[in-house]
Amino acid sequence: MQEHKAEILKGLKATHKYISSRFFYDENGDQIFQEIMKMPEYYIPEAEGQIIQNQSDKISSALRSKNTALNVVELGAGDGTKTVHFLKTLNEELELTYTPLDISPHILNTNKNHIQSQLPNLKIQPKAGNYFETLEQVARSEGDKLYLFLGTTIGNYELNDAVQFTKWLQNMMLPNDSLIIAFDLKKEPRKIMKAYDDPQGITKRFNLNLLDRLNRELDANFDKNNFRHFPAYNPVNGEMKSYLISDIEQNVTIAGEHIHFKSFEPIYTEISLKYSFDKIRDLVQQSNLKIEDLFTNENHRYTWALMTK
Ligand code: AVI
Repeated sequence: MQEHKAEILKGLKATHKYISSRFFYDENGDQIFQEIMKMPEYYIPEAEGQIIQNQSDKISSALRSKNTALNVVELGAGDGTKTVHFLKTLNEELELTYTPLDISPHILNTNKNHIQSQLPNLKIQPKAGNYFETLEQVARSEGDKLYLFLGTTIGNYELNDAVQFTKWLQNMMLPNDSLIIAFDLKKEPRKIMKAYDDPQGITKRFNLNLLDRLNRELDANFDKNNFRHFPAYNPVNGEMKSYLISDIEQNVTIAGEHIHFKSFEPIYTEISLKYSFDKIRDLVQQSNLKIEDLFTNENHRYTWALMTK
């Protein structure tokens, strides 16, 4: 966190205060996120599971028409539980290697053990680190690749940043490579709101954990009782945004600097952008990629986009 001090202070001194949601994920944040994934209101794991269960065969056939061997490179792979069924299906038709990328070496160990127990003959080559660095190394290695960016993590980028990110991926891809990105689609606004404002208050804890982290790692003195989790969904542009609102006028010290909060002043902490099919097509076109096919979940409110250069 120390190395991100300047970035955090810049956000807190801005006219409209913000902190990137990247900083949610310390050990405690990872644990709370696991709780979120199990919440009935958080529909994303189920939607992704449906695509994996129902569409893996079709995706596999689409890939086989182009590739005989594939290195599946998964960005932010986590523990691998969601990907294993997909890998099993691909493994029946293609000569497969699996390269899970994640910031945490610990989670990659769990990933490798889990996948290996289900697919003992699969070659697995985990790479720990920031994927902006690890992916560049992998992209240069030989063989056709399928890049996976699942779990709708793309939604945690503002639209312009998502375009920059997909351009960066496009730039690294070779003509026989493919890319799958998972997008959460616009849906009944109240369903979205509930997923980010659950009645048990798990998402609230997830957001407020950021203040604990700043207190611990940047010597701050936020009083969590003076801040409130505030999620807001805009059905026009699909932006689901979360804020921490200062309930009172107050001063907070962080890394030796004083930050003033007016009453009800927000810190913007997260975007979870919900896409329309038009917005997906726009993003793909701007990145000079081509959609090969879209694979949706059962109610067509979550989709994987299979793309090539
Ligand atoms: C990791 N990411 C895709 C989650 C999301 O849905 O934006 C993070 C999250 N934030 C609140 N709940 C879940």
